[in-house]
Amino acid sequence: THRSASGADGCPFSASSEWPETPTGCPVSPRAAAFDPFDRPYQLDPAEALRWSREQEPVFYSPKLGYWVVSRYADIKAIFRDNLTFSPSIALEKITPASDEAQAVLERYEYGMNRTLVNEDEPAHMARRRELLEAFSPEALEAHAPMVRRLVREKLDAIIHLGRADLVAEMFWEVPLTVALHFLGVPEEDMEQLRRFSVAHTLNTWGRPSPEQQVEVAEGVGKFWQYSGQVLKKMQDQPRGHGWMYDMIEKNRQKPDVVTDNYLHSMMMAIIVAAHETTALATANAFRQLLSRPAVWAELCDNPELIPAAAEECLRHSGSVVAWRRIAMRDASVGGVTIPEGGRILMVTASGNHDPGHFENPDELDIYRDNAVDHLTFGYGSHQCMGKNLGRMEMRIFLEEFTRRLPQLELEEQEFTFLPNTSFRGPEALWVRWDPACNPEHREPAVRRAQRDFPVGAPEARTIVRRVRVASAKPEARGVLGVSLVDPVGRQLPAWSPGSHLDVMLPDGESRKYSLCGPAEAGDWRIAVLLEEAGRGGSRWMHDAVREGIELRVRGPKNHFRLDESAGRYVLIAGGIGVTPIMAMADRLKQLGKPYEVHYAGRSRESMAFIERLERDHGEVLRLYPKDAGKRLDLAALLAEPVEDALIYACGPERLLTALDFDTAHWPEGSLHVEHFTAEGALLDPEHEHAFEVELADSELVVEVAADRTLLQTLRAAGVDVPSDCEEGLCGSCQVEVVEGEIDHRDKVLTAAEQASQDRLMSCCSRARGKKLKLAL
Ligand code: HEM
Ligand code: FES
Repeated sequence: THRSASGADGCPFSASSEWPETPTGCPVSPRAAAFDPFDRPYQLDPAEALRWSREQEPVFYSPKLGYWVVSRYADIKAIFRDNLTFSPSIALEKITPASDEAQAVLERYEYGMNRTLVNEDEPAHMARRRELLEAFSPEALEAHAPMVRRLVREKLDAIIHLGRADLVAEMFWEVPLTVALHFLGVPEEDMEQLRRFSVAHTLNTWGRPSPEQQVEVAEGVGKFWQYSGQVLKKMQDQPRGHGWMYDMIEKNRQKPDVVTDNYLHSMMMAIIVAAHETTALATANAFRQLLSRPAVWAELCDNPELIPAAAEECLRHSGSVVAWRRIAMRDASVGGVTIPEGGRILMVTASGNHDPGHFENPDELDIYRDNAVDHLTFGYGSHQCMGKNLGRMEMRIFLEEFTRRLPQLELEEQEFTFLPNTSFRGPEALWVRWDPACNPEHREPAVRRAQRDFPVGAPEARTIVRRVRVASAKPEARGVLGVSLVDPVGRQLPAWSPGSHLDVMLPDGESRKYSLCGPAEAGDWRIAVLLEEAGRGGSRWMHDAVREGIELRVRGPKNHFRLDESAGRYVLIAGGIGVTPIMAMADRLKQLGKPYEVHYAGRSRESMAFIERLERDHGEVLRLYPKDAGKRLDLAALLAEPVEDALIYACGPERLLTALDFDTAHWPEGSLHVEHFTAEGALLDPEHEHAFEVELADSELVVEVAADRTLLQTLRAAGVDVPSDCEEGLCGSCQVEVVEGEIDHRDKVLTAAEQASQDRLMSCCSRARGKKLKLAL
């Protein structure tokens, strides 16, 4: 029925009988049929425009576009992972086919844009990418930082006394372009013309120009193509220059079959855009998001250590690349839907970045988010953006200079406009204002040049620390201090889900984990701290120092003990202070109306926290086992019979969790979920380790893990972003899928069954038993 609306390849369903009959006879839902990325909602906010899809129809065919649209995080990542089934060859194809007139114009310019890196298939792509990686090593990128700093300063010096500016026009566009040209070694000529070329290229590739515009756009693209050829020629004639394009020219001489002639010309044009427009738009998006939340901006000004984390969170929340393309090389299943061979796919990465299945409170801009680096804005896998660390560096330097020199900056009321296209997103202008009389450097001239530098790469987890105030601190039971936390400036703290915990930083630089107690409602952050006389002193400090009104530094909330809400019934088991996450889970299950029972063991009623609250809210399903009253939790008896469709969640002392592992061995795999709070023996002793080789299947790299390095450190050094948190095998955030090889598991996160399946490991501590592992990274 919608074939007439398509205008693209026609209806993909007509040939297949696999699709269910619907009242109209058409399997395309009304919302899918109505979807048009060139309509206002997607143009303004692609993640929001696809909320319905994330929730109800995560993979759908869009007749208006002629593409399969994919909106969930896991599905998008699965596509990125498999670049043989899902070829990138259409990444730079015109999303709106050229009109005959436009085609004629392009031919007149002998336009021949072909394969670069981003749209090249294997094995040609990896062979080329490997030859060209050197310019992106941390050391090589570090060398560009002073140039970026100088450019940003020059621009800021020029406007700092004005009080009002459009930052896009003043610098967000020009600085990244200059950096890109410098990085590439391309002469900086005629910047305005390059900007017009870039716009034409974006509209040509990802836009839907009207028939009249098509001709104009084709003129621009044709000229850009010629210009690129001329610049390339000039560079080839003076082979002694520095920059990534010169690396390519050199490799083209040495290995013309790997770095081909046609590649050089196509890349010359594509990279000028890839290397600057992405970063320019990302910077504008970041400033827009941060300045529209003045408290967050103020926090960044007070605590510049957070800048890398904030930039990363902005890339997640409002990335500059919002959708990317692949084409199915055979019939392939994505999220349970079969995409036929030849199906064109639009992965809306902006939507994946707002998927609650991967990011807590995904719509919130939370600069303390611990897994922001998982975002899809740089793509993923073997084609993942090579320039990500240069883009990050530029965004950080912009933010660092502005937060220091213009903390009083404000966003003006304005209507934002965007260049209409599917993939590149950022405001065309960004008006800000400030009172120049309040510039800190009037009072304190040193502010002008006092800079802070950040290491190249993903943000460091240890810097992502939030300040909170203690609203109350009072005994919950014998030896247990209940602490309730609020934001120091009165904002609402982020929502969290049952199983989440906080890491509280101690004065000695160490930290301790405490589960949030619940109910799991936005802004309600409560923890309970058991005094452990034999512990390392953290709980002693908490009991002595924490009182109403003081500030604490925390990381999180993060959830490594997530409640799967899809099971039929639940057995919750708590030992001692392990009751805290269990209580939050019980609250949630009650709210969901799911059958559950709570088993809570402890030394004595007096030492068991929250008994009254549990009796009040969960009395009917609560069993208490205070030891001093002779009550014993007999796990073997309780779990003797596996219950169909039931999950067990448990938190408590190690011996309880070890016993549980044993007593549930006959339950279906995956029934038991536990949370550990201590690790032993996770740390590295190089004397007793051996080096091993790791093959990264998605990145198509091979790296060597030395005996004195962790796998995680090695992956990071190779430019692979893996989130991490505890770095001692407790939290699960550094998990990596293993394709091949025998694993020496050192973590506390995986159950015995999960470890035995040998299909994943915690990269912060686990290693290879033999000489080699192959990872899905
Ligand atoms: C590829 C985004 C900055 C060079 C990509 C891809 C995306 C992207 C989405 C495709 C990834 C995939 O298919 O998995 C961005 C964003 C940037 C940025 C959001 C800034 C915030 C840069 C810079 C450079 C650069 C500054 C160069 C200096 C490249 C290259 C590729 C690429 C060479 C192709 C890699 C390959 O296919 O092997 N980028 N990019 N990018 N980017 Fe970036
Ligand atoms: Fe926590 Fe590896 S970082 S388990």
